[in-house]
Amino acid sequence: MKLVMMYFSPTGTTKKIVARVGKVFFEKLLCDTRPVDLTKLAVRMRPCVFEEGDVLVFGAPVYGGRIPAVVRDYLATLQGNGARAVALSVYGNRDFDDALLETTDLLSSQGFQVCAAGTFVGEHSYTSKVGTGRPDAEDLLAADAFGIAAFEKVVSGKKIQKKIPGNFPYKEVVAKQRVMPPVDAEKCTRCGACIAACPVCNIAADLSDCGRCIGCAACVKGCPQGARSFRDPGVLSIAKWLEENCAQRRSPKFYL
Ligand SMILES: Cc1cc2nc3c(=O)[nH]c(=O)nc-3n(C[C@H](O)[C@H](O)[C@H](O)COP(=O)(O)O)c2cc1C
Repeated sequence: MKLVMMYFSPTGTTKKIVARVGKVFFEKLLCDTRPVDLTKLAVRMRPCVFEEGDVLVFGAPVYGGRIPAVVRDYLATLQGNGARAVALSVYGNRDFDDALLETTDLLSSQGFQVCAAGTFVGEHSYTSKVGTGRPDAEDLLAADAFGIAAFEKVVSGKKIQKKIPGNFPYKEVVAKQRVMPPVDAEKCTRCGACIAACPVCNIAADLSDCGRCIGCAACVKGCPQGARSFRDPGVLSIAKWLEENCAQRRSPKFYL
């Protein structure tokens, strides 16, 4: 039996929630435990096959009310074989729309028995003024409580009873080609942190844009010098809208 904690997390908030929920499972199961960080392209190239009796704690951020396209593609390669799963969506205090429903549908169609699901809030990738500092201490305590309840559901083997919000067909994906956040040459020390952080290997050795930026903010939030910032007009207008409309704190939700 193995416990897999799998996540895609360009700015680290989903990783925090998956780690916290996964810790509850680890402390109770004390079995072979593997973190699988799908943020790395090389990891997304490896197949992951589960067996009945295995447990998956899976988390992804919400992008445009959906699961990020690169994660959706990877999930289609998983082989669940009856393993039990917990699904988590982490969003930037606007809404998760159809993302959690899509995640649980995808995991079920890959052969997982999805026993529990939850939504949590992380600081928004596009502005630190929305969901500031989240997940915070209150969120992490909620993740502990969720982990305990989810563990009981996983042991029982029962599918989720509560209806997960969302619609099918899911919200339309609007394909947007993003302009990579440019680098401020005066601040940049050429440490390469942005190259290492980019989940789609979009940043060349000369720090230029290879044209496949997904606008995830890994390079912006991962730069130790704060040398990268968004200049894409689409991203800047979304950030402004979020700051004006999404200030009210949203809470974690559990579906068991
Ligand atoms: C391309 C993109 C689209 C996003 N769409 C949404 C959204 O629809 N709703 C929302 O509340 N947050 C949205 N966010 C914010 C992220 O879901 C949120 O910041 C999350 O905590 C990021 O997870 P990470 O830290 O694991 O990368 C979006 C972020 C990005 C980069």
